[in-house]
Amino acid sequence: MRRLAGPVARLRAAQRDAARHERDAKRTLAKLERERQASAAKLARVQGELDELRRNYHFSGAAKKLDLREIDGFAGIAERIVADGRTGMNYDRLYTLWQAVRAAPLDTPAIEIGSYRGGSARFIAEAFQASGRTPRLYLCDTFAGPMEIDSRIDIGHRDAGKYETVSAGATAEYLSGYPALEVVEGDIVETSRHLPEESYGLVHLDVNYYPSTVFCLRFFAPRLADDALMVIDDYGFVTCPGVKAAADEFVTEHSQYRLWHLLTGQAILWRRATSR
Ligand SMILES: C[S@@+](CC[C@H](N)C(=O)[O-])C[C@H]1O[C@@H](n2cnc3c(N)ncnc32)[C@H](O)[C@@H]1O
Repeated sequence: MRRLAGPVARLRAAQRDAARHERDAKRTLAKLERERQASAAKLARVQGELDELRRNYHFSGAAKKLDLREIDGFAGIAERIVADGRTGMNYDRLYTLWQAVRAAPLDTPAIEIGSYRGGSARFIAEAFQASGRTPRLYLCDTFAGPMEIDSRIDIGHRDAGKYETVSAGATAEYLSGYPALEVVEGDIVETSRHLPEESYGLVHLDVNYYPSTVFCLRFFAPRLADDALMVIDDYGFVTCPGVKAAADEFVTEHSQYRLWHLLTGQAILWRRATSR
């Protein structure tokens, strides 16, 4: 019996090892199975998102379209403005402004209402300079955020607070390379009374909310020079329903104006030639 004790003990130890290895192997298999299932779910989600992107009209024909980042003159200015991070606008919206600047009638001032930290204004300024012109350019903002919000219409926009932290001086400094700049600080409802110009070759309206948009449309649309355009930012953004509401009401009530909704989220307003 004693002679058998050693082999039996070794056999039992080997059996215990085998049982432990089996348990470890089962645990590893279960873990791998959980990971496989999680990866399959992730893959299905990504596949769904890819299918969604393929069906999305924004991307349809994307590979065949001009790349705005390669358009001479525009690309360099837009790249700097986007990199400066002082505007939420990307190449698409900046390109609308680029075209509006080039379409602006000669020798007429331009104005932006809603300049914030000056990103879009500097783009407009540099676009004018690139086209060999430096018309008087007005930058209007409270530099303290919106004065009034209509809580029934201006729903969904949660950023009102962030516009309170900018200084008119810093915005003016950022645009100091432009020779014909006027920074107009205050509520446009008040400051517009003191603007010396009778007409504008370009109006860029970027005030986010219904009351300011209503006021600016009524004040500046009749002051558009012949052939001038008003670019209305955020018209097609669900985060700024007040802008669309104000613009739609305006063109319904004033049949001499036309409004074109762009897929950039902006809209273009102009006066019909026949209405003059
Ligand atoms: C979206 S920011 C403008 C961003 C800027 N256009 C850019 O992209 O670089 C909107 C600005 O509109 C201004 N604003 C809103 N209502 C205004 C009013 N009644 N008078 C003057 N500025 C106003 C706010 O203070 C805010 O700075």
